[in-house]
Amino acid sequence: MSKVLVIYYSRSGNTQKMAELIGESIKKEGLEAAVKDVKDIAVNELLDYEGIVIGSPTYYGTMASEIKKLLDDSVKFHGKLEGKVGAAFSSSANIGGGNETTVLDILNAMLIHGMIIQGDPQGDHYGAVSIGLPDARVTKQCARLGMRVAKLIKRIAG
Ligand SMILES: Cc1cc2nc3c(=O)[nH]c(=O)nc-3n(C[C@H](O)[C@H](O)[C@H](O)COP(=O)(O)O)c2cc1C
Repeated sequence: MSKVLVIYYSRSGNTQKMAELIGESIKKEGLEAAVKDVKDIAVNELLDYEGIVIGSPTYYGTMASEIKKLLDDSVKFHGKLEGKVGAAFSSSANIGGGNETTVLDILNAMLIHGMIIQGDPQGDHYGAVSIGLPDARVTKQCARLGMRVAKLIKRIAG
């Protein structure tokens, strides 16, 4: 069974809640999902999953340093993550507070790894974004992101 790793950093629980919603949705599609705090991740684990989904609170319009460190450490596996499915999500305090730039910064690193990123023409275009704790809209977007990541992995696996 294909496996997806959902990694998050979260100080006050908002991004963590999004990670949990995404993980549940991946499981509903019949894939395995491990939802982990970035502090519990060893960079080598990235190799073990068909999909990697990363979430960060928005800090000054970009990802928290804890997530950036993981991505910088992942240079150890440059070229080895190619073909894995990637996705990102973020919680910020404000509309226009930089949650989309945060998502794009994470996706940027995934693209450099050669990972496969799918945008969304109907839902949150770049990845799920929340203002604070997920509300009903964000809950749907997280479910949608998890479902789309899982479906893409299944399609690639044939
Ligand atoms: C250092 C720091 C920088 C932040 N920068 C921004 C920002 O640029 N834009 C914004 O809307 N919120 C900003 N915030 C607020 C957080 O993104 C927001 O509270 C988020 O929901 C926290 O997620 P968490 O509960 O997963 O920690 C910042 C918070 C901190 C602590």
